Amino acid sequence: MRVAIIGAGKMGQWFTKLFREEGFSVVVSSRTRSKAEALRAEFGVDVARSNVEAVDNADWILLCVSLDSLDAVLREIGSHVRPDQVVMDIGSIKEIPVNLLHKHVEHGVTLGTHPVFGPGARSLEGQNFVLTPVGDEEKRFAGEFRGWLEKCGAVVSVLSPRKHDELMSLVLGFPHFVGLVAGDTLMNNPNFVDAKAVGGATYKLLLTLAEAVSSEEPVFYSNLHMSLPEMEKIEGLFLSKVEEWLRMVKSKDCAGFSRKMGQVKKRLRELDPEYERAYRAMYRLLDDS
Ligand SMILES: NC(=O)c1ccc[n+]([C@@H]2O[C@H](COP(=O)([O-])OP(=O)(O)OC[C@H]3O[C@@H](n4cnc5c(N)ncnc54)[C@H](OP(=O)(O)O)[C@@H]3O)[C@@H](O)[C@H]2O)c1
Repeated sequence: MRVAIIGAGKMGQWFTKLFREEGFSVVVSSRTRSKAEALRAEFGVDVARSNVEAVDNADWILLCVSLDSLDAVLREIGSHVRPDQVVMDIGSIKEIPVNLLHKHVEHGVTLGTHPVFGPGARSLEGQNFVLTPVGDEEKRFAGEFRGWLEKCGAVVSVLSPRKHDELMSLVLGFPHFVGLVAGDTLMNNPNFVDAKAVGGATYKLLLTLAEAVSSEEPVFYSNLHMSLPEMEKIEGLFLSKVEEWLRMVKSKDCAGFSRKMGQVKKRLRELDPEYERAYRAMYRLLDDS
């Protein structure tokens, strides 16, 4: 089995290592050739002179380029894909890439995929992986690919591209937004530096989120945020909740605040069976760090 990796950035490098470790033959093409050459030196992969050459002898073609390069790459390779080949993208949004796959790949099978982890993951073990097949042919291949991913330890979900993007609005977009707004708030507080020395677990948790999110690639995050379909709705609700809680603080409504906190606790407990375990584990982790 031969896999073509197109794009040798962070995720392209990650998947190259994975496929080599799993015994696949791998060919890599990249805009910056030195990145593909580095992968040849480290993992013994073949390096293609162009994206089209990489496609030529591959069974699976994995597009690991940034979202804003996907259209150009698919225009380049789309007409060269044969019916027995499979083209997958790994973008963190799915509706736009899946439409591009359908638009440009004339003959092969296509599949939208989303590894819901970053290049820091050690392996596929326990990692969430979403597949978004549309139509019978894609569903058939998704079943095959799912089997392989699960054999490697991944936890696979199959969703429509739209449902995926709605869920990612909550799973990725909202934590990014909260982390960035929290970071912006913290750094504008004159006590930011002194607070760290006396902060407990909840402060560490907030700081960890703010610092982890703000350390990521800004163009990637802003493209992602503007492409996710539910951000205005979720962040609009968040803003109205902030105002609701702030009104209680301003009016010193202690009883209202406690009542509201009790409601949140009760509802989260009802909705999330892992409520107790999750927050205890998080506190243990932070206390140990
Ligand atoms: N990073 C994450 O945590 C993460 C997680 C899950 C999914 N994803 C998805 O993975 C994809 C790649 O993300 P990434 O973090 O790996 O980005 P990245 O590090 O910026 O890598 C993208 C790579 O694509 C290459 N490229 C761009 N245009 C190309 C072209 N025309 N031909 C060949 N190569 C081309 C770039 O080449 P240059 O080196 O010349 O710029 C770069 O090396 C994105 O769709 C993203 O949504 C990322």
